[in-house]
Amino acid sequence: MAAQVNSWNEWDRLEEIVVGSADDACYEPTEPGNHPHIRNAAPGTAFPTGRKPQEAIDAANAELAGLVALLESQGVRVRRPEPHDYSKPVRTPEFSVDNQYCGVCPRDVMITIGSEIIEATMSRRGRFFEYEPYRKLVYEYWNADPAVRWTTAPKPSMTDEMYREGFWDWPLEKRHAEMHSFEFCITQDEVIFDAADMSRFGRDIMVQESMTTNRQGIQWLKRHLEPQGLRVHPLHFPLDYFPSHIDCTFVPLRPGLVLTNPDRPLSDGEEKLFLTNDWELVEAPEPTTGNDEMPTYCQSSKWLSMNVLSISPTKVIAEEREKPLHDMLDKLGFEVFPIPFRNVFEYGGSLHCATWDVRRTGDREDYFP
Ligand code: NVA
Repeated sequence: MAAQVNSWNEWDRLEEIVVGSADDACYEPTEPGNHPHIRNAAPGTAFPTGRKPQEAIDAANAELAGLVALLESQGVRVRRPEPHDYSKPVRTPEFSVDNQYCGVCPRDVMITIGSEIIEATMSRRGRFFEYEPYRKLVYEYWNADPAVRWTTAPKPSMTDEMYREGFWDWPLEKRHAEMHSFEFCITQDEVIFDAADMSRFGRDIMVQESMTTNRQGIQWLKRHLEPQGLRVHPLHFPLDYFPSHIDCTFVPLRPGLVLTNPDRPLSDGEEKLFLTNDWELVEAPEPTTGNDEMPTYCQSSKWLSMNVLSISPTKVIAEEREKPLHDMLDKLGFEVFPIPFRNVFEYGGSLHCATWDVRRTGDREDYFP
């Protein structure tokens, strides 16, 4: 029987993928792990709550449908999340938030490592139950193929004690002075990670320490994955004062080539692993949109420009307005498929974030021998 789940890296030929959906999306709640702000608004302006306007949902869904059509035209099987009412509150004995967020970014929640599917712990209250829209699919894969392994990482308490709420008010000087301590809005007591802080390089899994993944989270991933012969490498980008999710910072495109973010260099000691193994780190060009011009409710940076999705080691989907990036990828030997995706930005991600690859061709390779 053909494997249902098999994906070891970010670039091998894509066979099956989940594309997110903006249906029933809400504004992300304000909570200790997240203080969303309206771009360019006066300090203190309240962030909206509850369901997003239908026009914003329809506009994002139209672009997600464009991605689906492109992937299908390339022979990729596309799956979608189940409907989920994100306007329902999350309540546990320890906390509550008035609504959840959305199902646009499966990458944040789910990761495939070989034949294993891992549901991340998640780091924010509003996203506690965000695995639910993918459970039907997980059961389908799990029932169809006995080789599929399914792991749910330990759920953190998300109590007030798990967070350092003062983080949001730290002045820039403090962030600068402490940039090498890698302490953010989550503390180090519990196991915490979002799946999107990981990037898969065959035998080697790179994990960014961030606002959404702490050292205990990385420790859990090490103890879970290393007995299987994998190697887990924590990565640090000291100039990113609000790090979350590695795929706007360090994006592998094919064996030996990583697209890097010139504003967020990898810490010196960690570059060595790549350079001594003949990997080339290529800086992404300046995005075509400045941070101030990003969508009003978007909490991500202009570097969504580099959040590309690989269909194969030679084919990359990129946002249509990022012409300098297209030209660079073209020179590097890639066929670029530009598609409009700006209306998805307000949900925090672009093409890589809005997907979760379930099956790519290829086996586990050692790219760092
Ligand atoms: N935190 C990242 C977005 C990751 C999808 C950034 O704002 O650049």
